[in-house]
Amino acid sequence: MMLMKNLSNKRILLGVTGGIAAYKSAELVRRLRDQGAEVRVVMTRGACEFITPLTMQALSGRAVHTELLDHASESGMGHIELARWSDIVLVAPASANFIARLAHGLADDLLSTLCLATTAPVVIAPAMNQQMWTNSATQENIETLGRRSIKIIGPAEGAQACGEIGPGRMLEPEQLLQETAQIFSTGLLTDLKLTVTAGPTREAIDPVRYITNHSSGRMGYAVARAAVEAGASVTLISGPVAIDPPHRVRHISVDTADQMRDAVMLDIADSDIFIAAAAVADYRCADVAEQKIKKNSDDLNLVLQKTPDILAEVARLSRAPFTVGFAAETENLLVNAQLKLKNKNLDMIAANLVGEGLGFNVDENALQIFWVVGNQTQGNQILGNQTLEKAPKERLARQLIQIIANCYYEKKSAQENTIQENTTQVH
Ligand code: PMT
Repeated sequence: MMLMKNLSNKRILLGVTGGIAAYKSAELVRRLRDQGAEVRVVMTRGACEFITPLTMQALSGRAVHTELLDHASESGMGHIELARWSDIVLVAPASANFIARLAHGLADDLLSTLCLATTAPVVIAPAMNQQMWTNSATQENIETLGRRSIKIIGPAEGAQACGEIGPGRMLEPEQLLQETAQIFSTGLLTDLKLTVTAGPTREAIDPVRYITNHSSGRMGYAVARAAVEAGASVTLISGPVAIDPPHRVRHISVDTADQMRDAVMLDIADSDIFIAAAAVADYRCADVAEQKIKKNSDDLNLVLQKTPDILAEVARLSRAPFTVGFAAETENLLVNAQLKLKNKNLDMIAANLVGEGLGFNVDENALQIFWVVGNQTQGNQILGNQTLEKAPKERLARQLIQIIANCYYEKKSAQENTIQENTTQVH
């Protein structure tokens, strides 16, 4: 049952369409919430004929969404916000009619519009009469959805509400729960070890004051969580933050850049990947006052000296792991990020603009990712790049981990090819 942990803190948008199996969705909401997931329910008109929105509201603890162009809903959490909010859109039950509308890209109600507007994975659990399921029209629609990477779970075979026997029963809530949890477990980083830094550092001025920044740790913690979900063994080295570490990470708390550097260097020798999401203070006081500094003059000069650049030091190691930096910029994002990638000799950099609603101390972010293509570390680098649009940090972290895994394996296979070529030449 370890998989179930994957549902903790996940944002699940449950779409319910018209079918007798809608009664099972009520149980599903309860079970999802028991596993720590946050659930918002969207019901089609057909669904409301089988089960009341009030039941779903009571079970989900949230207002149920039913209308696309409803003023009250749109001024609260509108359809685009709902689409962005979700980590996954699960439609259970998905009727033959809904499947046909989805296959044809219709956006004529709230649920079909959300399925088009979301970047989250869309999963459907079909439920219908066995004849409707085997009908070639439905089967062609299912094939179309499969080609668009929409995941189809079920249906099961058995006795149906209409008295017939055959395929078309929606999976039971327990099975839906397992299948949903499975989606968050990619296995992409199985057997790999990651070291991740997160949060700010604090550099003392005197016993009561320090230099720091606004990092909350959310981005780095989300990356650590996504790496655990992907099967990695993760050490999370964190500056002072107010959030709980994810389950199953080795968590090390530090205060200063020096402490973070020491903790990283102790952990890094057997790491395959290093991700530096921490906002490490670039400078610390050259001399920390032993006593609280008194307000004796109008000006106070502090002499600052550079802290160790942890990321650059890791990238310089003779057996450096795949090294990923972050760049937080207020201007010239792309140019500055690419410079950091080159100057610090990194494999990848995730650049984020610091601004309203993005970057430090907020739930959402947007990333521009650059990576070195192939096995080249010096000279003119060929860069791959991908933009991750504004989304919750949890979602971005999962997307980032996917990109990191792809590039890590590409680099590894390029290195292995080079070794093989060199060995062949020597012989
Ligand atoms: O924590 P949140 O509130 O969720 O905010 C997330 C974030 C904005 C802090 C995060 O997304 C981010 O951008 N982290 C890096 C911030 C930063 O310090 O960027 P930088 O451009 O100054 O540093 C470049 C890279 O070098 C970073 O990977 C940093 O961890 C690393 N570095 C910097 C200085 C230093 N002395 N040692 C380092 O390892």
